Amino acid sequence: MDINNSIERILITEEEITARCKELSKEISVDYEDKKPLLICTLKGAISFFAKLSEQITIPLEYDFVKVKSYEGTQSTGNVVFQYIPGTPLKGRHLIIIEDIIDTGRTLAAIIKEFEKEEPASIELACLLDKPSMRKVDTLVSKYTGFKVPNEFVVGFGLDYEEEYRNLPYVGVLKPEVYTK
Ligand code: IMP
Ligand code: MG
Repeated sequence: MDINNSIERILITEEEITARCKELSKEISVDYEDKKPLLICTLKGAISFFAKLSEQITIPLEYDFVKVKSYEGTQSTGNVVFQYIPGTPLKGRHLIIIEDIIDTGRTLAAIIKEFEKEEPASIELACLLDKPSMRKVDTLVSKYTGFKVPNEFVVGFGLDYEEEYRNLPYVGVLKPEVYTK
């Protein structure tokens, strides 16, 4: 059983992801020169994007992680519970939150609200994918966005369907029979 066979079509190839991550890494390296940003990777979905992005950034940086669980049915509610919060003190730091996808924006809004309590110097977002048509939180803007995607459920390069498909090296759309089996 090859997981590639569950994919109906590839939306973003491995090569496109690598090239876009290089561009974003360059932008971050320029924008944050002398700021020693603290990259905060959201677990688990952003792991692949975070690794590819950070390895091409050429300025000093630190990184940490955050893990939230959203209690939701099929739709995001924004009721998030923090399962891991960064051990690094955030006060006065320039934070870049690394996320796999912004959908409604509620998960990120909850994370930002929590981080703001610690008075960081700045907070920006880097998201591999953006589904702008689904946004419920208008104030949320991803400064470093990989790709805009249509309102379809996507998997791969960190994104999962019931915890599977995260290890695919590209972003794709699942065959409908995968949902219905
Ligand atoms: P939001 O709070 O609605 O912005 O939800 C964002 C989270 O929902 C992401 O971090 C993903 O874990 C998940 N998500 C949203 N859309 C997709 C998708 O198309 N594929 C996989 N996960 C998704
Ligand atoms: Mg997720």
